[in-house]
Amino acid sequence: MKNISMFLLQIQFLLGVASSLVIHSMPWRVPCPHQCVCQIKPWYSPQSVYKEAPTVDCNDLLLTKLPASLPPETQTLRLQSNLISSLDQSELQGLVNLTELDLSQNSFSSTRHLRITDLPALLSLHMEENQLRHLPDAAFSGLSGLQELYLNHNRLRSISPGAFKGLDKLLRLHLNSNRLVVIDRRWFHALPQLEVLMIGGNPVDSIQDLNFKPLGSLRSLVLAGMGLREISERALEGLFNLESISFYDNRLTKVPKEALQKLPGLKFLDLNKNPIQLVQRGDFKDMLHLKELGLNNMDELVAIEHSAIDNLPELTKLEITNNPRLSYIHPQAFQRLSSMESLMLNSNALSALHRQTVRSLPNLQEISLHTNPIRCDCLIRWVGADNDKPVRFIEPQSTFCSEPPELKARRVKEVSFREMADSCLPLIAPSMFPSYIQVKHGENIALHCRALAEPEPSIYWVIPKGMRLSPSISYGRYRVLTEGTLEISGVTPEEAGFYTCVAQNLVGADTRSLTLKVEGAGRAYKASMQKSEDNLEVRDISERYALLSWQAGRNVPAAHLSWLANGSLEDHHRHSTRILAGTQGFNLTRLQPGTHYKVCLHMGPNETSCIHLRTKEAPVVTSSPDLTPAVLLAVSALLLLLAARTCQSSASLSWKDQMMEFEKPHTTILSDEAKGFMVPPPYLKQVCQPSPSKFSSEESGKEISYPHLGQYGKEPPKEVC
Ligand SMILES: *[C@@H]1O[C@H](CO)[C@@H](O)[C@H](O)[C@H]1NC(C)=O
Ligand SMILES: *[C@@H]1O[C@H](CO)[C@@H](O)[C@H](O)[C@H]1NC(C)=O
Ligand SMILES: *[C@@H]1O[C@H](CO)[C@@H](O)[C@H](O)[C@H]1NC(C)=O
Ligand SMILES: *[C@@H]1O[C@H](CO)[C@@H](O)[C@H](O)[C@H]1NC(C)=O
Repeated sequence: MKNISMFLLQIQFLLGVASSLVIHSMPWRVPCPHQCVCQIKPWYSPQSVYKEAPTVDCNDLLLTKLPASLPPETQTLRLQSNLISSLDQSELQGLVNLTELDLSQNSFSSTRHLRITDLPALLSLHMEENQLRHLPDAAFSGLSGLQELYLNHNRLRSISPGAFKGLDKLLRLHLNSNRLVVIDRRWFHALPQLEVLMIGGNPVDSIQDLNFKPLGSLRSLVLAGMGLREISERALEGLFNLESISFYDNRLTKVPKEALQKLPGLKFLDLNKNPIQLVQRGDFKDMLHLKELGLNNMDELVAIEHSAIDNLPELTKLEITNNPRLSYIHPQAFQRLSSMESLMLNSNALSALHRQTVRSLPNLQEISLHTNPIRCDCLIRWVGADNDKPVRFIEPQSTFCSEPPELKARRVKEVSFREMADSCLPLIAPSMFPSYIQVKHGENIALHCRALAEPEPSIYWVIPKGMRLSPSISYGRYRVLTEGTLEISGVTPEEAGFYTCVAQNLVGADTRSLTLKVEGAGRAYKASMQKSEDNLEVRDISERYALLSWQAGRNVPAAHLSWLANGSLEDHHRHSTRILAGTQGFNLTRLQPGTHYKVCLHMGPNETSCIHLRTKEAPVVTSSPDLTPAVLLAVSALLLLLAARTCQSSASLSWKDQMMEFEKPHTTILSDEAKGFMVPPPYLKQVCQPSPSKFSSEESGKEISYPHLGQYGKEPPKEVC
């Protein structure tokens, strides 16, 4: 509950309460009731006026009624933690200056047992932690001067519309932690001066339009822990003076941006602990007085999008921490934040923070990035550069690189600029989406996929039918949004299967896959998943290359292909390459003429299929020296992408035609009857293999994995196509 207490501090700050001042009590020599303590104590009025108040303290005495003969000068009467269940005006007779009465933690079950008819000097009444169930009309009508009323932690289920009648001086009302299921606007008509309303911790799941309209003086509203799912556009209308609002620990799945636009004076906003997945463009926009924003402890949050936080000229502190899945902050997520000094991003799943993000904050003084899986490559390289405007790192001692392996456990600040590459591979964080999800027939699904890299990657999805869907494409129930989200509307068993997101830039690609199960689709789904993948075949062979293809009934996770020449019995002559998801063919090049090879396709841990082949004899053998076994490898260009099964059966394109199709990059064909269309590999060039000369490890014969598929680290591969 740290957040709540922080919030209370802010409220106190707003109300100007100097709570830290310590002033000692002074003796008060009066006849004091038995067991009670009578002292002059410091006291602050609800409006922060300091007083030295004659105080009678009878806390924790198992009293069932008020002590007799209270000193008439008493201003503060404390009866906390007793067993009092009723109180009569006559018991307070003569206490003309009584300003605070604390009856918290007693046994009141009804305000009817609080028979106070006239106590106009009373400013503060504590009734928290009793057993009140209902507030009738005019429940506190004898307390016309009351400024603070604490009714939190009772069992209030209902409050009559006129319950607060007569409390027109009330400034602060605590109704939190009760059993209210609705918030009734009529309660507030009697409270024109109310500044603070705490009503969280009640099982209220929605707020009606104009719910707080009568509270034009309200400065702070706490709606924490309520089960709110959405806040309608007009819910907060009329709160012209509101400075702070908390939605801590609700069930909001989106930032309630339209409602927040109705709060012109907002300074503090707490949305922590809500199941928000994305902070989207314009979610926080033009909030001209916002000073602090918290987006913490969100288990679902995966990404902060382009222009998500825009034009908040007074924002000084942005805290986005403890979000276990947050792996992506768009380089231009923050716009026009001219006062921002402090950016807290610790304890997320961020692999990097783009230098553009940092450069977009002209006044940034400090940044906190520790406890993130930082990838020390080109994206975080700015940290080690000579920055014209240095930014202070909070806890630099515990801000470590977690990748690449050779920099692991080094402190980010201590890795020099030169040690980090200047371009880097896309990385789709494992936290982006789970590897398996099960949904009900008819549900709408959104799968978010984002990746950071330099240069900026493009993203596409490969769906179970084998088709590749790029952003801004709709197909059947599918839609891919520009940011990389795949939406499936009204999912049916047809959509069950294997999905892969591919993020790609000039350096390489990363993929991440998920299996979607649609409830009630058990059989169809199983049948398709069990379809054998083991039909590896040779489509063409010559002296130096062999063109392979295989059928993947469903799109498979990144597989790899290995090959070994006869005679090179030792395993270290084995060559291997990873295969992009969705690929169904590969051109093995630089083979030796007249040689046997064993070629195996490995899909997943247990699924391997192998074939033997023999290259054609060279017609005239001019034994060229560069055809040593070590140079065998080097493959070039792959190629057949994703023959959807429907495609194979349609047989409208010969295999040759298809290959030609592949050679036209960047042409995604999506005809209306998009069945069986062929998609070219996204960037034919990029699936080329790195030049063997770059990888001396290979010369020495080790199996290598090429870095072009989510592997990390090495220099950008030189392509041989
Ligand atoms: C109540 O307060 C007033 C003003 O401070 C004071 O003059 C008066 O003596 C007080 N009455 C009692 C009974 O203490
Ligand atoms: C290579 O291996 C195949 C299959 O094991 C075998 O039939 C063939 O005789 C071998 N060839 C040579 C040249 O060793
Ligand atoms: C396979 O690679 C070889 C050698 O680079 C090339 O000559 C051949 O045309 C390629 N085949 C296809 C179908 O791309
Ligand atoms: C692979 O085989 C092992 C041992 O036979 C088995 O324990 C494991 O579950 C299999 N994995 C998959 C993904 O089928």
